[in-house]
Amino acid sequence: MKLMGSVFLLALAPLTLALENGLMRTPPMGWLAWERFRCNTDCKSDPHNCISEKLFMDMADRLATDGWRELGYVYVNIDDCWTAKERDATGHLVPDPERFPSGIKALADYVHARGLKLGIYADIGSYTCAGYPGTTLDRIEQDALTFAQWGVDMLKFDGCYSSGAMQAEGYPKMSKALNATGRPIAYSCSWPAYQGGLPPQVNYTLLANICNLWRNYGDIQDSWDSVLSIVEWFSVNQDVLQPVAGPGHWNDPDMLIIGNFGLSCEQSRSQMALWTIMAAPLFMSTDLRVISDSAKEILQNKLMIKINQDPLGIQGRKILQEKSRIEVFLRPLSHSASALVFFSRRTDMPYRYTTSLARLNFTQDFVYETQDVYTGQIISGLKAADNFTIVVNPSGVVMWYLYPTMHLDQPFSFMKQQPEDKKVHPFTL
Ligand SMILES: *[C@@H]1O[C@H](CO)[C@@H](O)[C@H](O)[C@H]1NC(C)=O
Ligand SMILES: *[C@@H]1O[C@H](CO)[C@@H](O)[C@H](O)[C@H]1NC(C)=O
Ligand SMILES: *[C@@H]1O[C@H](CO)[C@@H](O)[C@H](O)[C@H]1NC(C)=O
Ligand SMILES: *[C@@H]1O[C@H](CO)[C@@H](O)[C@H](O)[C@H]1NC(C)=O
Repeated sequence: MKLMGSVFLLALAPLTLALENGLMRTPPMGWLAWERFRCNTDCKSDPHNCISEKLFMDMADRLATDGWRELGYVYVNIDDCWTAKERDATGHLVPDPERFPSGIKALADYVHARGLKLGIYADIGSYTCAGYPGTTLDRIEQDALTFAQWGVDMLKFDGCYSSGAMQAEGYPKMSKALNATGRPIAYSCSWPAYQGGLPPQVNYTLLANICNLWRNYGDIQDSWDSVLSIVEWFSVNQDVLQPVAGPGHWNDPDMLIIGNFGLSCEQSRSQMALWTIMAAPLFMSTDLRVISDSAKEILQNKLMIKINQDPLGIQGRKILQEKSRIEVFLRPLSHSASALVFFSRRTDMPYRYTTSLARLNFTQDFVYETQDVYTGQIISGLKAADNFTIVVNPSGVVMWYLYPTMHLDQPFSFMKQQPEDKKVHPFTL
């Protein structure tokens, strides 16, 4: 019999005192401008796609009317390039008057009226990454107050044009300043992405105390290479990253680029599956006005979102890397369920992969039911020792949601409801 239960509980034990603002108990979901719309400020030639209040109102409309909001995609997030080139006479950040003529407060009201939340962007440094006014140490309280007065719900705090010392002082200081406004404002820190190192030279205990999520690694680009490099970095560093994630504090591998130009359909499914296994925030960065039905189907997969939003909030891990270049990822879920992703790094043809749950260290004591997250296909009565074969396409995934349906020794008592912490788990992580 394989180990179970005890090791699982270890994984649950909080290693950190997390940020106590009550926000983001599951990974946040929504939309973020940067990857798709960048710093396009040319509203004269490109009024439809420039960074302006119209863009964010359009996206809010889409989130509210095309089924996104009901699934949990509620954040509408501004990134860099929203401000005027200078602060005003009293030193306050102001939006660019031509691109945001109604102001951020009006935009927040617009977004809130649709049952959504508004996120904004600032940078601990002399300038933002794109050269707009930064939030130097002496401006932190002022800017936090400005955001709160506008009714902003989330802040992404970037790290360009600053020193390590400024970051070490500024990131905790902004956390305190946001708290002091009295308005619940979720806090995304880019701090680790500016520290680097392998493993990253970051105090993750501190980070989980002050931030709701944090970017660890470089910006995602609209390409499969970029997605692969992020997945690779997260896998290599998973011993450091996996234990620090949990309700209220998440590792952020950056935006979903599904719906854009760089990923095939298989690759889009892979990004969604791998982000879900990593308990990652799901911030889409795509044009929701023209998104294809196939991309939308991936992003709106209900079982996928249920897995991503699992209340235990345990980040998954890569558990196996086969010579065949099939990689297996596992995420433990509530009610003794789990999610498995079989990911092909092959570039030739669909691969027939044969394995068994026992090989993946699932205990032999149970009989399982599995559901394919993309096709809906169900396998019932699967014993851990049973070999099964799946077909994984090049750069694609097969993703399973599975749970034990019967305990071989106590087939009738097993399904009785038990408190979460008393439940046995079918594998070790
Ligand atoms: C501020 O922090 C305190 C203590 O951690 C917490 O109880 C409170 O909810 C926080 N308030 C806001 C607005 O974040
Ligand atoms: C990391 O931060 C925590 C919380 O602030 C602190 O207790 C701990 O000493 C820090 N660890 C190191 C190695 O600096
Ligand atoms: C299964 O458990 C063994 C023994 O602890 C370990 O060496 C192996 O890596 C595990 N395999 C998987 C796929 O988790
Ligand atoms: C499953 O496959 C393994 C490896 O090919 C084999 O050793 C084992 O006997 C098979 N198990 C069953 C139940 O067929």
